[in-house]
Amino acid sequence: MKRDKLSYPFSWEERRPLLQEGIFYVPDFYQAHERDLFPSFDSLFGNQNPVHIEYCSGNGEWVVDKAVSHPEINWIAVEQKFDRLCKINSKAQNCGLENLFIISGEALTFSREYLPDGQLDAVYVNFPDPWPKDRHAKHRLIQRAFSEELWRTVKKEGSVTLVTDDTPYLEQMRYEMQEWTSKPPSSAAYGSSYFDRLWRSKGLTIHTLYYGR
Ligand SMILES: C[S@@+](CC[C@H](N)C(=O)[O-])C[C@H]1O[C@@H](n2cnc3c(N)ncnc32)[C@H](O)[C@@H]1O
Repeated sequence: MKRDKLSYPFSWEERRPLLQEGIFYVPDFYQAHERDLFPSFDSLFGNQNPVHIEYCSGNGEWVVDKAVSHPEINWIAVEQKFDRLCKINSKAQNCGLENLFIISGEALTFSREYLPDGQLDAVYVNFPDPWPKDRHAKHRLIQRAFSEELWRTVKKEGSVTLVTDDTPYLEQMRYEMQEWTSKPPSSAAYGSSYFDRLWRSKGLTIHTLYYGR
């Protein structure tokens, strides 16, 4: 996967799904998605290792650390803000990662339009935007449509981990994940991220929800 300094590959008028240099671009407000444009995981990574995905990767610190420390796993980072995606890309490039693939786009759209049924081994969402005002809560990622996508795309023996500092969002996550079985988190070090450190430094409690079927 070749990675150079990035610039956004198309104008609004020219937007289209595009696979380029280790990044798959999923345009917003676009109707003509075609699932075939996104390769199978086997051909994307050139192996059959387990696939773990992090949605809302931000600047990518958590997922890049994971990809470095777990080369036996294929990682996918999904981030909708291009400036943050560029930071993920730089980190991946600096670390010479071949087991991290990056998605530029919105999480639910990517999942719905491009992910196959039942092939993800693990999903992580670390500190998704809480949208604390009631009138903005509709923008939260963890809602019914997304939890249905998790159910469709994660393997039967797979897992979902959700992390938040926000108590109302925590309750919403629990509600939306009712079909899943809550499990104790693994004792292995979970890793950290920019927002993890930020909220811990302010004394906030961090909640981790871990689910299997
Ligand atoms: C609060 S930050 C957390 C970033 C990172 N996970 C961390 O812990 O430092 C939330 C990130 O999710 C991204 N994001 C929010 N909603 C998204 C969506 N629906 N699809 C993809 N990315 C999203 C934002 O652009 C932002 O970078």
